[in-house]
Amino acid sequence: MSSNEHTVISPAILYWGTPVVLVTSENEDGTSNISPVSSAWWLGHSCVLGLDASSKTTENILRTNECVLNLASDSMAEHVNKLAYTTGSNPVSESKTSRDYKFVKDKWTKAGLHPQPSSFVAPPRIAECPAQMECQVVEVTKLRKDLPDRTGLILAVEVRVLRVHVLQSLRMEGYPNRVDPDKWRPLIMSFQEFYGLGNGKVAESGLGRINEEKYRGITKSDIVKLPGDDDDKIVAAEGGV
Ligand SMILES: Cc1cc2nc3c(=O)[nH]c(=O)nc-3n(C[C@H](O)[C@H](O)[C@H](O)COP(=O)(O)O)c2cc1C
Repeated sequence: MSSNEHTVISPAILYWGTPVVLVTSENEDGTSNISPVSSAWWLGHSCVLGLDASSKTTENILRTNECVLNLASDSMAEHVNKLAYTTGSNPVSESKTSRDYKFVKDKWTKAGLHPQPSSFVAPPRIAECPAQMECQVVEVTKLRKDLPDRTGLILAVEVRVLRVHVLQSLRMEGYPNRVDPDKWRPLIMSFQEFYGLGNGKVAESGLGRINEEKYRGITKSDIVKLPGDDDDKIVAAEGGV
């Protein structure tokens, strides 16, 4: 078989490579939980998370409608590994017990991470993460409605991003509201392994010629006003570069 021929394969997971997000959420007792996830995609100021319905994070998000999405950089694998095999749920589910997960109440100490207060939501931000997004839930959808015995085991949780915080070192010089992709080094999970983006762009992108501000129209409503809606103007007025 020649190496440039396609053949059929059936991987049990289809994690082709997405950034690792550390989701913070508030527990019933006012403490907070952290969960690594990598099923996340973004459009406008929306994000959709793929979450195991039985995790503590999901329980917290469904109860409070809030979370913070903290993006891990490629130097944070050690912190993320300390959170692997942990859950804030007690007792631990049968499925997680069979995968050697343990209950950990204080994931901050376990992972060596530190909280910072958020502006609009209760869960704290993670100081070590270079990018942090304060979010509220818009809609929760059960996946696999086509399989009656599997419906709702995983959920698509749509959240709106109210406020974005980034390290000063990630900003694009000369622009108040842009992240410089040459400076942003996310931790990528591909299948179950960690990668970085490598050094620099592989090529100039055609899409890169579009002014980013042209995408702002879908991020705000003319009718509904939300916290953080004017952050772009506030940052620009403050000369935020
Ligand atoms: C790198 C990494 C990526 C993960 N991605 C996801 C994911 O996308 N969705 C998910 O539900 N769980 C994911 N998990 C597993 C959760 O972290 C795990 O279910 C954990 O127990 C959740 O913690 P909690 O129960 O305290 O919320 C991932 C774990 C790691 C280490």
